[in-house]
Amino acid sequence: MGEKYNVRFEPVGIDIEVDEDETILDAAFRQGFMLMHGCREGQCSACKSFLLDGDLQMDRYSTFALADYESEEGFVLLCRGHAYSDLEIELTNYDEDMIRSGLPVLTTQPRIESIVELTHDISLLRLKLDGTTDFRFHPGQYVDIAIPGTGEHRSFSMANTLSADGELEFIIKRYPGGKFSGLLEGSLAPGDPLEVTGPYGAFTLRVSSDRRLVFVGGGAGMAPILALLRQMAESGNEREAVYYYGARTENDLFHLEEMAEISRRLPKFRFVPCLSESWPQGWPGTGDEGETGLVTEVLERCETDLADCDVYLCGPPPMIDAALPLLESLGVPNAQVFYDKFTITAAVEE
Ligand SMILES: Cc1cc2nc3c(=O)[nH]c(=O)nc-3n(C[C@H](O)[C@H](O)[C@H](O)COP(=O)(O)OP(=O)(O)OC[C@H]3O[C@@H](n4cnc5c(N)ncnc54)[C@H](O)[C@@H]3O)c2cc1C
Ligand code: FES
Repeated sequence: MGEKYNVRFEPVGIDIEVDEDETILDAAFRQGFMLMHGCREGQCSACKSFLLDGDLQMDRYSTFALADYESEEGFVLLCRGHAYSDLEIELTNYDEDMIRSGLPVLTTQPRIESIVELTHDISLLRLKLDGTTDFRFHPGQYVDIAIPGTGEHRSFSMANTLSADGELEFIIKRYPGGKFSGLLEGSLAPGDPLEVTGPYGAFTLRVSSDRRLVFVGGGAGMAPILALLRQMAESGNEREAVYYYGARTENDLFHLEEMAEISRRLPKFRFVPCLSESWPQGWPGTGDEGETGLVTEVLERCETDLADCDVYLCGPPPMIDAALPLLESLGVPNAQVFYDKFTITAAVEE
């Protein structure tokens, strides 16, 4: 334990106590405040804020998340920042409802219930929570799963809503040699324990809005979007919604039956699978709604004005990086764009 300091956040007027050994973001979680964040590893910039006063020093981070000129101007990353004096920080990206909606961050030891292949490189992992745990999450959030036998972890988004009693469901892309995802190819089996810490993440449905919803996902980015769609289907949400899902070929598509079922339960919802490489003739089950091209190209072709929409994006970093400027050009205000970028843990640079 190090020295403790007071950190005040403006313009929301919240004070927390921060130990110099913990990051300011973790200190906020510990005290029940859910500040805006994504990767928690200095790679996505979601926690970028402005230092108004005091001595703050940062652990290693990527200059993609915080460029040198921004750091010189006074911008900081709260997931990398430690307090070395009392601080005053201006939150540049925040949601007042969310700040006070934080659920406690817990570590728990669920067991593997099943591992099922959804496609040639995507698996469904189901974990069964120990009946005594108080672990809860908001649909769309993620947890850190410890990689057994290492001091490392990887982040994975829950695809379920916790209405499926005591289970956590993940959609995981398997990378050859991937330290965690590689274990799904035979090293981990039903019954094995895993250590899970969370919940984290701000990719949750803003229910106070009634704007049209546009979801854009790719690959395993299906997971948190599916959680939001399941939440909408369970509550009979009546907002108009469309989901552009990007994959390379028909062999990369999965959960089509569930998309059809959600479309039946939500009459104002439309699922648009987008294939970048090939589109089979007479594609079954999805009507004529499939599109060809990168998901961002389809979005640009099909949507001309998104100013009055809430847009939720999730997937690999190149997809998010291509979509953000496009959304700006399609008129979506930043405050109506929510994204989870599946950044790679291994790649942190100074
Ligand atoms: C907030 C958040 C939520 C996430 N949710 C999910 C999720 O729901 N499902 C999911 O599958 N992943 C998710 N991820 C990504 C996940 O945490 C891991 O980074 C990913 O599974 C790779 O870990 P690994 O240990 O298997 O591979 P590593 O051992 O870290 O990497 C192995 C190899 O694969 C390559 N690689 C790893 N990730 C990528 C990538 N994204 N794009 C291209 N190459 C890559 C690496 O360059 C390396 O060569 C999320 C990440 C974040 C930050
Ligand atoms: S850079 Fe801080 S949460 Fe991603």
